[in-house]
Amino acid sequence: MASSLIGGLIADGWNPSSITVSDPDNQQLERLSQRFPITTTTDNSRAVAGADVVVMAVKPQVMQSVAQALAASISKTQPLVISIAAGISEFTLRHWLGEKTAIVRTMPNTPAMVQSGATGMYANPYVNDDQRNVAESILRAVGIVIWVDDEAMMDAVTALSGSGPAYIFLFIEALQAAGQELGFSKETAYLLALQTAFGATKMALESEEDATILRQRVTSPGGTTERAINTFREGGFNDIVSKALHAAAERSRELAQEFGNTK
Ligand SMILES: NC(=O)c1ccc[n+]([C@@H]2O[C@H](COP(=O)([O-])OP(=O)(O)OC[C@H]3O[C@@H](n4cnc5c(N)ncnc54)[C@H](OP(=O)(O)O)[C@@H]3O)[C@@H](O)[C@H]2O)c1
Repeated sequence: MASSLIGGLIADGWNPSSITVSDPDNQQLERLSQRFPITTTTDNSRAVAGADVVVMAVKPQVMQSVAQALAASISKTQPLVISIAAGISEFTLRHWLGEKTAIVRTMPNTPAMVQSGATGMYANPYVNDDQRNVAESILRAVGIVIWVDDEAMMDAVTALSGSGPAYIFLFIEALQAAGQELGFSKETAYLLALQTAFGATKMALESEEDATILRQRVTSPGGTTERAINTFREGGFNDIVSKALHAAAERSRELAQEFGNTK
């Protein structure tokens, strides 16, 4: 995730020399600095010293130790802290980093790796307008962003766009399998399924009409698409999608509790 962000920022015109990356693994840093002319260090406090913005891009399990080790420095210089860790509340982060830390909590998704991400963001009351704009422009480097006013909505972001790429992959897999049943080779079925998902999404993105209108336009009464869509409906398609998202949001809340950070 961090390397996707760095790639996106540099592609967006940010000065690489203003970016310092810290990671305990020297080989990882070597690989990164071969790709981007950034500054690297294995010492997190060196990366944080003097920074206006600190992006915390470690796994949730290691966030506590990383954050607590930086607390003194962050309390002193008061940078904006952006967390991309799933399930860790701003309350918990402030507890680790310092009570008045300006924190933007974000939930990006994996298409950020190809600059096509969707990120949900939540700013705590210590974040000023300039910091909010900086946070937005950083995450915009890897896709679109939306803000939520209520942090609880981050579970909904996780359920819809965070886990969403996997749902789309699942649908593509199902199209591929069904295409094979209809007689295509695995490769051809995959190609047709993939390009159809891409083409439909591109069309919807470029259209002024919403998905409902676009679907209705390709669904002639009595035609093949109508019969397929009726079959989806009879099988409870919308209900399954709704149940799946509720289940994911519930799991997101459970995981937050496992990290011990619900308010
Ligand atoms: N992947 C996603 O789709 C996705 C989506 C939304 C949010 N996120 C969140 O993004 C965060 C990063 O996920 P990821 O998939 O990018 O994980 P990752 O590939 O494991 O990246 C984490 C990086 O942090 C480094 N690190 C570990 N301990 C550190 C320390 N003490 N100080 C500094 N750096 C340290 C790791 O180094 P080593 O490899 O040497 O351990 C690794 O390079 C997670 O909190 C995750 O919840 C991920």
